[in-house]
Amino acid sequence: MAEEINAGLEGVVVGKTELSNVEGDIGRLTYRGEPIEALVKRDFPAVLNWLMTGDWLDETQCRALDRWLADESELTAIETRVLEQLPRDTHPMAVLQALAPIADLTPAQQPPAWLGEQWVPGMVLAARINAAVRIWHNLSQRGDIFAVPAGLGFLEKLLYGINGAAPDKAALQAINTTQILQLDHSFNAGTFAGRVIASTGASLSASVAGSLGALSGPLHGGADEAAVMMAREIGSPENADSWVRDALANKVKIMGMGHREYKRLDPRAAILKPMARQFCEGTEWQTLMETLVAVEDTCQDVFSAKGKEIYANLEFYKGAVYLALGIPERYFTSLFACSRVFGWISHFHEFNLDPRLIRPRALYVGR
Ligand code: ACO
Repeated sequence: MAEEINAGLEGVVVGKTELSNVEGDIGRLTYRGEPIEALVKRDFPAVLNWLMTGDWLDETQCRALDRWLADESELTAIETRVLEQLPRDTHPMAVLQALAPIADLTPAQQPPAWLGEQWVPGMVLAARINAAVRIWHNLSQRGDIFAVPAGLGFLEKLLYGINGAAPDKAALQAINTTQILQLDHSFNAGTFAGRVIASTGASLSASVAGSLGALSGPLHGGADEAAVMMAREIGSPENADSWVRDALANKVKIMGMGHREYKRLDPRAAILKPMARQFCEGTEWQTLMETLVAVEDTCQDVFSAKGKEIYANLEFYKGAVYLALGIPERYFTSLFACSRVFGWISHFHEFNLDPRLIRPRALYVGR
């Protein structure tokens, strides 16, 4: 009997997790049972700590974690030198993938006393990745490293460093939301890649480096950059209809549309679309936002004429929010990584509670 092959592992259950639950048929996403719609009203450090440890922090603890992560969000002299040696046109995701396995995971500052020891190296790695995005942005866009003032929060420092100016309250709220929405998403490709690497007994850093590589692809995290590049190529909402029909007729994928798990609207996109509208209105990004809306409309029309449904995913409108926050599209996926790294670390720990080598079989069809 011919062996059955499931190349994309669609619908295959390969393990358990209590970290996040994607209920694709009803368009719901929860972290440890809490729906994202409620979580986005909280502070990023509180939610990442909830995801990782299952504990809620009080306000003082949340501020302490925020400040400690911000203080750790620096590179060592050696790490900075590594970045300085790289060609300035290196993609930020390649920079992160190069840095992750060699990053120094020793905290420079005393971690909060209540933080479990097992979380410290992972949180330091996450902070280094945030620092690398800021510093690589500075080196490649400005030519020097902007000195951010002391005493900032974790996300505030990232945004301040990229823009070279203090973010306002609305910008801080927006980045708080985008980063919470990207923390975890069950066994997506990047997370699964990290779990495969963890299953070999490799280090946390090696696992995160593998996840970064998987996230960079345009069918996964890289779709954020690709969706905005597509909208720029289309140019205006008036051009969208014919562009999309032509693309779909030629089997070209529309970036930021469709999802393996969601058969309804991605709940993250439902939160991001009105935010993107609000942030882009009256700005230089308004036409781009209107182009995205027009692309989504035509895409849905074409699919529904075939009796199928397709919806925007997380990536479709996120770029418009990031652009309005001053983040260039080349950095979108690395900003995604700045958040998802906390999810990868959580999965690394969860996987290692009951590890088993992941090693599927292939059907040999050679001579
Ligand atoms: N544009 C055009 N057609 C699409 C799209 C799309 N974005 N998404 C799905 N389809 C079509 C496929 O062409 C296919 O049609 P067919 O049955 O006539 O061949 C059908 O829908 C099923 O698509 P698959 O790609 O087989 O579905 P899969 O579950 O493998 O794909 C994926 C999911 C990869 C996300 C897909 O929707 C896609 O490529 N989207 C664009 C890239 C993207 O936005 N990725 C980000 C996902 S979210 C994240 O990773 C954080």
